[in-house]
Amino acid sequence: MLVLQIFLLPWALRCWAYGVDSHVFTITQLACFLNSTSVEFVGNATLDGTLTHSLESHNGQFNVSQMWPLETPDAWEQRQSKLQDYLNNFKLLVNLLANEKAVSYPLHVHGTKGCQLSKNDTNRFYEILLNGTKFLTFHATRNLWMPLQGTSAANYTSQKLNEFNQTTTNL
Ligand SMILES: *[C@@H]1O[C@H](CO)[C@@H](O)[C@H](O)[C@H]1NC(C)=O
Ligand SMILES: *[C@@H]1O[C@H](CO)[C@@H](O)[C@H](O)[C@H]1NC(C)=O
Ligand SMILES: *[C@@H]1O[C@H](CO)[C@@H](O)[C@H](O)[C@H]1NC(C)=O
Ligand SMILES: *[C@@H]1O[C@H](CO)[C@@H](O)[C@H](O)[C@H]1NC(C)=O
Ligand SMILES: *[C@@H]1O[C@H](CO)[C@@H](O)[C@H](O)[C@H]1NC(C)=O
Ligand SMILES: *[C@@H]1O[C@H](CO)[C@@H](O)[C@H](O)[C@H]1NC(C)=O
Ligand SMILES: *[C@@H]1O[C@H](CO)[C@@H](O)[C@H](O)[C@H]1NC(C)=O
Repeated sequence: MLVLQIFLLPWALRCWAYGVDSHVFTITQLACFLNSTSVEFVGNATLDGTLTHSLESHNGQFNVSQMWPLETPDAWEQRQSKLQDYLNNFKLLVNLLANEKAVSYPLHVHGTKGCQLSKNDTNRFYEILLNGTKFLTFHATRNLWMPLQGTSAANYTSQKLNEFNQTTTNL
């Protein structure tokens, strides 16, 4: 149930950028949960500050675009379908955790994730804000989620995320 494929576009870009000086790829995603069923997403991706992808999802209508033709049309079709699955899983996961910890809606979940690529190093980062307050961060070197606030919701969520490969090593 807690299977969350936090799939990341940057890994696809890793090869492409490999050997080039240094790049920062960032994905931001804002999910507004009015309640457990009504969720809106907006997001974007940037490479070195230049917009590469945009995402919007209102009332289940999903619109994602790549500004740069980074992927072939076939690969991009598959990517879009995976992204839709990812958003559905993300929604399920947030609802599950909100339900278990009696967290009240409306909720704003803001994620910033990405990586910094340089010649011999890849540095991944992922930080989550809940209602505008720092909530969780991912320590890439230890493959661990850490709470950024002393609430039981943050403790519980990081523990749960740390239990699964899909949300740690395969992140
Ligand atoms: C969630 O909010 C939407 C929009 O306000 C509303 O139409 C829907 O009935 C609500 N659903 C639940 C389960 O409260
Ligand atoms: C990407 O989204 C973030 C957060 O919503 C926003 O602050 C930023 O301006 C956006 N970047 C671009 C290039 O649109
Ligand atoms: C989808 O998003 C793109 C880029 O933001 C925009 O140009 C396009 O009009 C949107 N399409 C729909 C159906 O909203
Ligand atoms: C999030 O913020 C909304 C109002 O902006 C509030 O109603 C809700 O209770 C908050 N939830 C949490 C978990 O902080
Ligand atoms: C990358 O390699 C160079 C030369 O081997 C070294 O000087 C540098 O510290 C390395 N950078 C990182 C971030 O590991
Ligand atoms: C969260 O975890 C920390 C460290 O394990 C603990 O000190 C703290 O009491 C916990 N907070 C809550 C609210 O459970
Ligand atoms: C996670 O991956 C490791 C190594 O691939 C594997 O040994 C372990 O069984 C996996 N754990 C889960 C919960 O899937």
